[in-house]
Amino acid sequence: MAEIGTDVKRAVQLLKAGLNVAIPTETVYGLAGIISSEKSIKQIFEIKKRPFTDPLIVHVASPEAINPLVSSFPPLAMQLFKAFCPGPLTILLPKSESVPDLVTNASPLVAIRIPAHPLCLQLLEELGEPVAAPSANPFGGISPTCAAHVESGLGSDVPYILDGGPCRVGLESTIIKILPEGGISVLRQGGISEEELRLFADLNLAEKQKEDVVPGSMLSHYAPRKPLFTESSKLPEGKMVCLRFQTALEGISEDRQVILSPSGNLSEAARGLFAALHRLDLMEADFILAEKVPDSGLGRAINDRLGRASHRKPS
Ligand code: TXA
Ligand code: MG
Repeated sequence: MAEIGTDVKRAVQLLKAGLNVAIPTETVYGLAGIISSEKSIKQIFEIKKRPFTDPLIVHVASPEAINPLVSSFPPLAMQLFKAFCPGPLTILLPKSESVPDLVTNASPLVAIRIPAHPLCLQLLEELGEPVAAPSANPFGGISPTCAAHVESGLGSDVPYILDGGPCRVGLESTIIKILPEGGISVLRQGGISEEELRLFADLNLAEKQKEDVVPGSMLSHYAPRKPLFTESSKLPEGKMVCLRFQTALEGISEDRQVILSPSGNLSEAARGLFAALHRLDLMEADFILAEKVPDSGLGRAINDRLGRASHRKPS
């Protein structure tokens, strides 16, 4: 069992000693380690059972704290950090020598974000150095949006969970790359929608090209233990529980359904998505049937997660 609490000083002490702490952010909880300690970073991969080929996002408290981590800072990146951060946006930038290869899997680019959570920002400020932090779930599983999710997934291996309450956004950050020819490309849909980004930068839809996805974008991800289906036409035999957007599915008892947002609000749906998947996974049933949401704004990121969580027969 991990210790769960709100003691930022204790979290700072543990991190400084090269241990790992689960931290709250506005998106999902992260499993943090200081980037200056090789041991601390290695432990992150070990605790999550994550391959070293899947690099980590570096978290800092302010745009100024980014300077030592990068070898160049394109004006568009600075503009985007100022517009959206602290917030759920991660930008890939050319890394400086001070970012260890272990963090980026030897890529010349480092992913950086400034999380919008008061406790997390306080921690980063008191710590005075950047932390790398992937989502605090076992590799490939459902992301954690409260301390209890972290405890149930990784509790036995994490000494301290800094409890910042339920995550306000509930979906991971949007990851973008600045293109040399100008504009940006979205590598992972997340808490900032394409519509919002378009107000500041040209979006290059080269995102769909194979080389332009993040290494962690495996097809099977965010997956509950139970098989999850997104289309009712291909359902197996057995007892089902349902994830719904606005309304219950007729013919199924309501206590076997989770409705994300009766008013049809995509932010509310995003906030509740992973908690709903955790709950459905604990219900006694053979599989989950999930309804997709409208494919605009945050809906694209929600549908992306549902698509990756859905069951695929081994080919
Ligand atoms: O909201 C978030 O981004 C959360 C919170 C904890 O900050 N973090 C998160 O981390 O979602 P993770 O590790 O679960 O997902 C990060 C994704 C992975 O797909 C990884 O491959 C990609 O970012 N990534 C990290 N560093 C990268 C790099 N240098 N180049 C390309 N992709 C990178
Ligand atoms: Mg993750």
